[in-house]
This record gives sequence, structure tokens and C-alpha cells, in this order.
Amino acid sequence: MKRYIDAAVEQFRSLLTEQLARVEVLEKGAGAKDFAKLEKITIGVCGGDGIGPVIVDAARSVLEALLAEEIEAGRVALVPIEGLTIENRMKLGQSVPKDTLAAIRQCDVLLKGPTTTPKGGTMESANVTLRRELDLYANVRPVAIPEEGCDWTFFRENTEGEYVLGSRGVEIPDVLAMDFKVTTRPGTRRIARAAFEFARNNGKRRVSIVTKANIMKKTDGSFSAICHEIAKEYPEIQVDEWYIDIMTANLVNPAIRKQFEVFLLPNLYGDIITDEAAQLQGGVGTAGSANIGDRYAMFEAIHGSAPRMIEEGLGDYANPMSILRAVELLLRHIAMPEKAELLDRALTLCGETERRLVVTGDRDGATCREFAAYVLETLDRLQAR
Ligand code: IPM
Ligand code: MG
Repeated sequence: MKRYIDAAVEQFRSLLTEQLARVEVLEKGAGAKDFAKLEKITIGVCGGDGIGPVIVDAARSVLEALLAEEIEAGRVALVPIEGLTIENRMKLGQSVPKDTLAAIRQCDVLLKGPTTTPKGGTMESANVTLRRELDLYANVRPVAIPEEGCDWTFFRENTEGEYVLGSRGVEIPDVLAMDFKVTTRPGTRRIARAAFEFARNNGKRRVSIVTKANIMKKTDGSFSAICHEIAKEYPEIQVDEWYIDIMTANLVNPAIRKQFEVFLLPNLYGDIITDEAAQLQGGVGTAGSANIGDRYAMFEAIHGSAPRMIEEGLGDYANPMSILRAVELLLRHIAMPEKAELLDRALTLCGETERRLVVTGDRDGATCREFAAYVLETLDRLQAR
């Protein structure tokens, strides 16, 4: 037993040292990139696993159509990113292969399909690695239920919490297992600022902080305190705080949920509640996800790679809506709001109001490719007006 304790203490010391070094880097800040001023924007496109390549193919065709002029003029380049498959990652024993990461770093933004994460073992999720390596600290997920007047934007902290050391817990086999959760001051300040800036710049009146600070006293306690500190710089915005358990209940209560606007949460709660919110909007297949940092940004579906659909031979029937919503977020991020608006209108028509083709995820519905063609044709129709 002593052997395990000594090893764990040593490990804890090195984790702490490493996180303190990280804090130092964060304190310095990287300085945000201004996309409106870039001469050329490089968008990496990466299929991922399972249904990933199918839905990314649909997203790429839509992106290519929307950016046709810019691509032609050399202002935008779409670059395929290879090697982020589960087979390659397992073979190399790297959650994001070195060469793939280097190629991604050559891009300004990344459009990425879902990647499969093996359960257990020590292989980290490719998403977690990318979010950490590219320092994509803000996970921004808009969700709306227009008929009820719900228009939510979730600001999920994306580089800390339960995730940052999630593959590096300690274990005494058959006896005990322990993971670590991390909240840092600069890491919390920047996500809080992102949420409040968004609220201020988008006419939102309210930011709701969500924690479990009654139980996770150190980490969530400090997340909460720091968010309230930042809130003071935004006196025009109303701030409230909820525990995650009651907030999950609030979201299924139609009498209450429409009052919320912007949510600010630590990583794991943000992960869980955004799936819930997306389901309320129409399914996890319907919401897009932006992972934003100062230097890089990654856009993806909020759902996973759906290996079960592949096993059942249903890959072609995957719903591309979530990744198409991510394309909309990408366009906004690279300072092309008109194109984002246009795509938003096309997606709302195809997915909600007109629904001439419906993707059900099964053989009774349209295929992903058919739906992409429908979106492309709708974009043409809207542009011709
Ligand atoms: C998400 C996903 C990821 C997460 C997985 C794939 C690591 O669920 O983006 O919400 O847990 O963050
Ligand atoms: Mg999730």
C-alpha cells in the first residue's frame, strides 16, 4: 500500500507543478486574433470517426458553396486534415497524432467531425487533447426553442474542471480510484469574461452561473466567486446562480426555462446540460458547438461519432444538422456574419419550417447526402431572391 501512496503523492506533486506552470502561461494571455484583418483564412477540415466523415462531407460541401468566391480569390483555403481516426490514434498510441496536430496548428480554424474515445484505459479523448493543446477555453453552444421564446447560449469552460486531468487520476487496483478537478483563477476569469462580453454585445440582460458549489467547495466555490467578481464589471447585466441539479430540472420546466439567456458553467456540467438543452431543441443532432480560443477555434457537432449507427449500417442516414449549425458558428467567428445569417435561414427552412426532407437517422428518412443537397438548393433559392 505504501508503494501506491508514495507514487500517488509524487504524481500529485507533478500535476500541481504542471498546473501552476499552466496558470503562469494563462496569466500572460495569448492576445486574440482579429479574423476581419487576416489576409488569408485557412480552414482545416477533418472527418473523424463513425458518422463523422459522412456529416463532415455534407458540411464541407455547404461551406464550399458559401465561400466559393473567397476560395476562388485565394482569401480562404479549405485544407483536409488526415490522421485523426481511432485506428490511427490507437496504432500510434497518441490521442492526437503529432503530425496531425502540427497540420491543425497551420490552420486558423478547424471544422471537425466527432471522434471516438475508448472507455477506460489511458487514451485521452481527442477532443480534450485538442481543446487543451489549442487552448480552446470557451465552448459556446447556442440552443433555441423559438415557439417558446427560449434563446439560450451556453458558455462552458472547456479546458479545466474534470477534464484537464481526467486521464491522470490515481488508482489502487480493486480498492480505490480518485480523479482530480481543476479550477484556476485566470481560466475562470476568461470564460466568465467571454460570457459577459457576449451578453453585453448581444443585448442579453441576464447571465446564469451554474455550479455545485455546495458540494465541490474548492473548485466550484472558486468558479462561482470569480464569476461574481467579473460580473461587477457588467452592472447592467443581471446575474443569478443555480446548482446544476435544479438547473437540469428548470430546463424541462416550460414555465421557467424561457427566462434564461446566457449560461456560464464549468466543463462537466456544461457538457451534460448542453446535451439536455439540445434534446429540448429537437435532438442532440441539431445543435452546433464552437470551441474558441485566442489563437485557434474548432467547430463541431455536439454529439459523438455514433458507432452504433455504423454497426447497423445506418451511417448514410446520419443527421448533419448539428455540424451544419457548427458551420454557421464558424462563419460568424471568421467575421462573415452575412453568410452565417444566410445559412441560418436555410437551415431553419430545411430543418424546421419547410421540412421537405427529414433525416430521421433511420432508413425511413432522408440520407445525409440528400439533406445536404436540399440545403444547397435552399441556399441558391435564398440567394436568387
Ligand atoms: C462534447 C462531447 C465531448 C465532451 C467528448 C466527445 C469528449 O461530449 O463535446 O460535449 O465530453 O466534451
Ligand atoms: Mg457532450
